[in-house]
Amino acid sequence: MSDTMIHFENVSKIYPPDSVGVRNINLRIKPGEFVSVIGQSGTGKTTLVRLLIAEERPSHGKVSIGGWDITRIKDRDVPGLRRQIGVVFQDFKLLPQKTVWENAAFALEVAGVSPKRIQSTVPQVLKIVGLENKMHRYPRQLSGGEQQRVAIARSLVHRPKVLVADEPTGNLDSLNTREIMDLLLKINEFGTTVLLVTHNREVVNALHRRVVTLDGGRVVSDQEVGRYYL
Ligand SMILES: Nc1ncnc2c1ncn2[C@@H]1O[C@H](COP(=O)(O)OP(=O)(O)OP(=O)(O)O)[C@@H](O)[C@H]1O
Ligand SMILES: [Mg+2]
Repeated sequence: MSDTMIHFENVSKIYPPDSVGVRNINLRIKPGEFVSVIGQSGTGKTTLVRLLIAEERPSHGKVSIGGWDITRIKDRDVPGLRRQIGVVFQDFKLLPQKTVWENAAFALEVAGVSPKRIQSTVPQVLKIVGLENKMHRYPRQLSGGEQQRVAIARSLVHRPKVLVADEPTGNLDSLNTREIMDLLLKINEFGTTVLLVTHNREVVNALHRRVVTLDGGRVVSDQEVGRYYL
């Protein structure tokens, strides 16, 4: 396997007409790394995530994932990319009319996976996040932390190589935050590369992992064992 999982080379994103998302980003993340991205509001963290999942295309430079150059990825190839990257957001983005089980199964159904494989995969991911006993509940019947665990389960159904989490604990209290962080670390231990965007000082300082700091759309610091010093 190549020693690069995520590669940003001289990447800039200018939102038309002239709003700078990120500027000249150079970032190489190895398979199995756990990297936190921090920075003040408006410094380009979410832009980096959107470039990685091809929700946006770079204005300049090159983005690749697992050796796949996605800089100018075609719309028809985006679903294939999304199956290789699990994504988790601050606001969970669960389907309210679907149960925990159905939320996790949905991405597999959309991808045309056989009912048999759905029946075997869904319990596995719900077990990883510790929600096997609540699979028939609806999102509104769950705590915020539990809802985020459903979102994480859903992000894992395709066995992604990379998990990207944009402020996954932004809406959670400190106990739920710790549970979600433990879960992300467990997923990382299974071998998944994790990119975590966070504002949470305690989270970053407890991780003792690599920290990339953005400011004004640029990488201003990249530390192997970083601290949150903003
Ligand atoms: N669709 C868009 N059109 C124009 N400008 C945008 C767009 N999306 C983001 N920007 C700008 O790009 C810059 C970076 O935004 P981004 O959302 O990446 O920041 P962020 O670091 O995620 O901030 P936050 O911590 O508030 O989530 C900001 O100046 C923002 O105003
Ligand atoms: Mg953001």
